[in-house]
Amino acid sequence: MPVSFPPGFLWGTATAAYQIEGAAAEGGRTPSIWDTFSRTPGKVENGDTGDIAVDHFHRRAEDVRLMGDLGVGAYRFSVSWPRVQPTGRGPALQCGLDFYRALVDDLLAHGIRPVLTLYHWDLPQELESAGGWPARETAQRFAEYAGIVADALGDRVELWTTLNEPWCSAFLGYGSGVHAPGRTDPVAALRAAHHLNLGHGLAVQALRSALPARAQISVSLNPSVVRAASDAPGDHDARRRIDALANRIFAGPLLKGAYPQDLIADTASLTDWSFVQGSDPSVIRQRLDWLGLNYYAPAVVSAPDPDRRAGPRRDGHAPSDHSPWPASEQVVFHQPPGERTAMGWSVDPSGLYDLLLHYTREAPGLPLMITENGAAYDDKPAVDGTVHDPDRIRYLHSHLAAVQRAIADGADVRGYFLWSLMDNFEWSYGYGKRFGAVYVDYETQARVPKSSAHWYGRLARTGELPPPVA
Ligand code: FCB
Repeated sequence: MPVSFPPGFLWGTATAAYQIEGAAAEGGRTPSIWDTFSRTPGKVENGDTGDIAVDHFHRRAEDVRLMGDLGVGAYRFSVSWPRVQPTGRGPALQCGLDFYRALVDDLLAHGIRPVLTLYHWDLPQELESAGGWPARETAQRFAEYAGIVADALGDRVELWTTLNEPWCSAFLGYGSGVHAPGRTDPVAALRAAHHLNLGHGLAVQALRSALPARAQISVSLNPSVVRAASDAPGDHDARRRIDALANRIFAGPLLKGAYPQDLIADTASLTDWSFVQGSDPSVIRQRLDWLGLNYYAPAVVSAPDPDRRAGPRRDGHAPSDHSPWPASEQVVFHQPPGERTAMGWSVDPSGLYDLLLHYTREAPGLPLMITENGAAYDDKPAVDGTVHDPDRIRYLHSHLAAVQRAIADGADVRGYFLWSLMDNFEWSYGYGKRFGAVYVDYETQARVPKSSAHWYGRLARTGELPPPVA
């Protein structure tokens, strides 16, 4: 029999500012790199942008009520940097902060715990024009912005996350270029990874000095659960290389205060890593109160294929002629057989189990939180307007059963956040991929909870995993 979830386990849903807010030019907000990128022809499917998104900026109260009705106990959202500090420098924009004050007040009034992410990929365009994450200065700017948000919301938000998925910011943003700002420069990607790490460390320092002692601070990583296609030594070495570039480049400095030696050796033909300055590793290694992990699907790799011309793509992300894997461009990625979601990502809950057990060993004593997990399917309303998504219920059930197994085997997991509360702008895929537990009709902006939303609400209210049927 699987164990129950621990008392106090947080059941939440997650979103991100650019994916839901819209109101892109309101209240003094200036463009972020995602505004620029999505307006560049050919970058986002169908030419979709986040200009309106799901209009959450204007429908905030309704969306919080919806969460209250479902019975979820926590909500992970992100603050839009260009909404609260338009140029990424200088004084805060109070009306931008007011939106988040009102959001947090609404959440608390419904008994929902706010979990605030400072950076979910929407760098102010002006900071990108000044060099973006490959420039060291951006880390400093990020810490200043963290302090601004902490001063404004520290009295009512206890759970804080610095960065969401820095791997995507660095390697999809500056390596393969399938995410904003769309640069394709492997050295810039490595520099960006370091400055994201440094920005995290500086931001934790800024948060600790501005927040009350009860505040809990974390970061959300999307570690790749990388598996070797076979026992051949070449496949194992490919696994090691991708593990270094996807995972240890963040976990190393964040948790141990050092970059892995094999990563530095693998990339030596590109850079001498002199952008890492004296005390950076100790700045990056800050005490965390918990670690956020986002999981969707594992990756399977085999030995480099020298004839490979186009770079391998990150499992499920749009193909690119440029690789997100500096100096490991020719590693071969395989699509494992079996069930897949609408993203083409394989359904494999054992990866989530492995991830939780891995970080239990890597970071003993550090509580874990699953800050994203979920699946896209081609949901369509029935004639009576209801939306049935049995595949999503099965996906969630199997992954939560894996979480239960991990807890039974010693993982200290404190919460789970379903990606996503509602359908939204799925980055380079635009509005074509639906991850929501709540269906959004993009013509009318009407919200319709899918059957998975009711199923998940039942779980959140009882703490018991319901059978995988609506
Ligand atoms: C993650 C992102 C999130 C969403 C999901 C599907 O990589 O953090 O915004 O796009 O993937």
